[in-house]
Amino acid sequence: MNKIVITGGAGFIGTNLALNLVKDNANHIIIFDNLSRAGAEKNLEFLLSKNYKNLQFFKGDVRDFKSLKEIVKDAKIVFHLAAQVAVTSSVEEPLKDFEINAMGTLYILEAIRKVSPDAIIVFASTNKVYGELKHLKLKETKTRYVFAEMKNGISEKENLDFHSPYGVSKGCADQYVRDYYRIYGLKTVVFRQSCIYGAHQHGNEDQGWVAHFIIRSLMGKSINIYGDGKQVRDLLEVRDLIRAYKTAIKKIELVKGEIFNIGGGKNNSFSLLELIEFLSKELNRKIDYNFYPWRPGDQKVFISDNRRIKKLLGWEPEISTEKGIKGLICWLRKFRIDEKGK
Ligand SMILES: NC(=O)c1ccc[n+]([C@@H]2O[C@H](COP(=O)([O-])OP(=O)(O)OC[C@H]3O[C@@H](n4cnc5c(N)ncnc54)[C@H](O)[C@@H]3O)[C@@H](O)[C@H]2O)c1
Repeated sequence: MNKIVITGGAGFIGTNLALNLVKDNANHIIIFDNLSRAGAEKNLEFLLSKNYKNLQFFKGDVRDFKSLKEIVKDAKIVFHLAAQVAVTSSVEEPLKDFEINAMGTLYILEAIRKVSPDAIIVFASTNKVYGELKHLKLKETKTRYVFAEMKNGISEKENLDFHSPYGVSKGCADQYVRDYYRIYGLKTVVFRQSCIYGAHQHGNEDQGWVAHFIIRSLMGKSINIYGDGKQVRDLLEVRDLIRAYKTAIKKIELVKGEIFNIGGGKNNSFSLLELIEFLSKELNRKIDYNFYPWRPGDQKVFISDNRRIKKLLGWEPEISTEKGIKGLICWLRKFRIDEKGK
């Protein structure tokens, strides 16, 4: 059996990953999660309702080194996804954010180094490690900001510039993960993810904006926009991300120690205003929105340059935003929203 641990496995990405990996009977999946994220319990309930024999849940916290050592013992692969995920909460509670994201990651790495040094470690980092990217020249259109020069988007060569406690704690973790390859030879891969979206995403105003915008629209409620709404993100459907994780694991000898930017790329981007426009057409309803001041560190444009991951792993996004967002609308209608305002 391949023992596979997913920290944060009851979260959005973790649930999709578990559902994918559990199909292979040779895998024994362990979800390690403290269920602190609203919606994680629902995801867990859904996973457990399937009665998979090779899936197990362990309620635990990444700040608990002792439990981590027990959980990662004999693991072949550890996906480290557990995190405090919201910039807003990190500003309110920077110590807690640091303890979970930075310390928690260091605990995981140490636990693996001590008891399972041959395990492969996949770490979910973030494009926030590049900061606000204020130095890049932008053009402004009616609905969005556009890079004036960075035609292919942001590559891994961009300077690190941690901004916001979340950016700092995740960036710190990202660097530790890479360094555990260099110093201790652990087989690590870091994915600096853009906006990921898809089924099992319980988006709210603080994190998971695509799902949040759809939920608000389906409920007929207005949306708060922080900034002018022209900020652009490249969007990646979660199943495409999981395909990248799995390809990296298959080619681990080639990519251990690597860091990849990963996102929907230049063909799969939306500004907030454009997503609202798209949803308005798709759902055939008027969507109200209000403007509020910018949030700290918010990038005006982030588009991932996926060329390195394409070169090394042969990976590129396959699910278009249009198709993916329609799929998420269907999922939210079926599982989350009764449209009368639940
Ligand atoms: N979703 C995105 O767009 C995105 C983008 C960039 C990076 N990421 C990273 O990907 C990872 C997964 O994100 P997600 O969108 O699935 O978020 P999520 O909030 O849905 O999942 C995170 C899970 O971690 C759990 N968790 C939180 N604190 C914990 C702790 N102290 N101990 C154990 N479990 C804990 C939560 O209960 C939750 O189930 C995170 O590390 C996040 O920083 C996500």
